[in-house]
Amino acid sequence: MRSLLHTTNDNNPHPPAAGSRKQQHWHCSSRCFVVSLLLVLVALVASDVYLSFPNRRNLLPLFRQPLLSRRPSKQRGGGGEGGGCDIFRGEWVPDPDAPYYTNDTCKVIHEHYDCMRYGKPDLGFVNWRWRPDGCDLPRFNPWRFLHMMRGKSLAFVGDSLGRNQKDSLICLLTRVAEPTTTTWLSSKHTVYYYGDYNFTVSHFWAPYLVRHEQIDEDGPAHTGVWNLYLDEPDDVWAAHVAEFDYVVVSASSWFYRPSMLYEAGRLVGCHYCKLPNVTDLTLRYALRMATRAALRALSGAGDGSGRFRGTALLRTVDPSQYEGGEWNGDGNCVRTAPYRRGQKRVEGFERDFRALQAEELSSAAKAVTDSGSKVRMLLMDTTEAMILRADAHPSKYRGWTPEKHFTLHNDCVHWCLPGAIDTWNDMLLHMLK
Ligand SMILES: *[C@@H]1O[C@H](CO)[C@@H](O)[C@H](O)[C@H]1NC(C)=O
Ligand SMILES: *[C@@H]1O[C@H](CO)[C@@H](O)[C@H](O)[C@H]1NC(C)=O
Ligand SMILES: *[C@@H]1O[C@H](CO)[C@@H](O)[C@H](O)[C@H]1NC(C)=O
Repeated sequence: MRSLLHTTNDNNPHPPAAGSRKQQHWHCSSRCFVVSLLLVLVALVASDVYLSFPNRRNLLPLFRQPLLSRRPSKQRGGGGEGGGCDIFRGEWVPDPDAPYYTNDTCKVIHEHYDCMRYGKPDLGFVNWRWRPDGCDLPRFNPWRFLHMMRGKSLAFVGDSLGRNQKDSLICLLTRVAEPTTTTWLSSKHTVYYYGDYNFTVSHFWAPYLVRHEQIDEDGPAHTGVWNLYLDEPDDVWAAHVAEFDYVVVSASSWFYRPSMLYEAGRLVGCHYCKLPNVTDLTLRYALRMATRAALRALSGAGDGSGRFRGTALLRTVDPSQYEGGEWNGDGNCVRTAPYRRGQKRVEGFERDFRALQAEELSSAAKAVTDSGSKVRMLLMDTTEAMILRADAHPSKYRGWTPEKHFTLHNDCVHWCLPGAIDTWNDMLLHMLK
């Protein structure tokens, strides 16, 4: 089965890195196969619920005490093993107190996610919070989070959705603290330091998690062809794992692009390379093996100072939500309210990706436990919550500089800040506490 390519976008989020900005290729030939998530399903502007945006002076309410859990949650990561509450199953309910920051109070919002500044007309999408079945997930408490993180170090590893979550975290913290320094160690490695808390947030650009290189700017889908070294965690981040207490890993969107797959340095197959003498192992295989390699780098195996000793979280696939057309055409995301529970299901590649991520996390976690390692491995299963939030994407309301081979009409992949993605950090705090 071949796939169409949708992707996240630039890999150089920060001005100091602008010189090395790479082009991505977005045009998809008419021969592209279209997966359902990128197809026209229905062009509906469903406005079941409209919550008006609060008055600007009410935008930053004082933080309220977390709601008391209706049922105590013993479980750390959710996921269904044992009792307690599975924070990943639930529904979106109104949150009139949101948002907890704005484009004016948070300075780090990347232009791609800055929907307020770029005039998203209906800001009702910020007034929702995720409520798990059987318990409450309190909104992010920045004081509590920073207290927990004193002297600690947290890293986000992955593609632009990881950057999206990192920006959300830093924005949620602005009510208490802003980073005292921000250092661009390279175009792929950024460090934010909170001096008062001796807390470090790092972001690594590693869209494939493993070592990769572009070998063709065009290729059968006109989105480039990449060599992926599926058993070699990308040293951009893997060389640093010993420095971190917490690592949030995520990847999937780049795997739609054609790729040549290597293991032990040898070509073992490809994804959509259309070469008669190379086996198509599919993008599922590529994502599975890259995820496995990344989790191996976080397993704490081996001796010496280079090994990981903390908590690793694997965040599951992020759904892209185009309706009324394709991602590179008329497709858009114009809903103004979340879907209700059960109205939208995870399907196609995204369902497969999520399943394989859960499988890889579970076998890696078991291997870690069996080895007696102190490393913790947790699945951050955000997919189901996000499939319901087609209203919370930037669409055309974000900064965007068109590039050659790079046409994106509407962004229905990333998430506006503030917005639904802030829930990922509500979940993060819950899982780490
Ligand atoms: C924030 O967005 C508003 C529009 O909603 C705009 O007027 C303002 O200039 C923006 N602030 C910044 C710092 O971009
Ligand atoms: C800051 O935290 C690091 C561990 O992340 C520790 O090694 C270092 O000693 C701490 N520095 C201060 C000044 O507390
Ligand atoms: C596949 O065939 C082409 C020529 O048709 C050749 O250049 C290439 O090296 C072959 N690749 C492999 C992996 O055998």
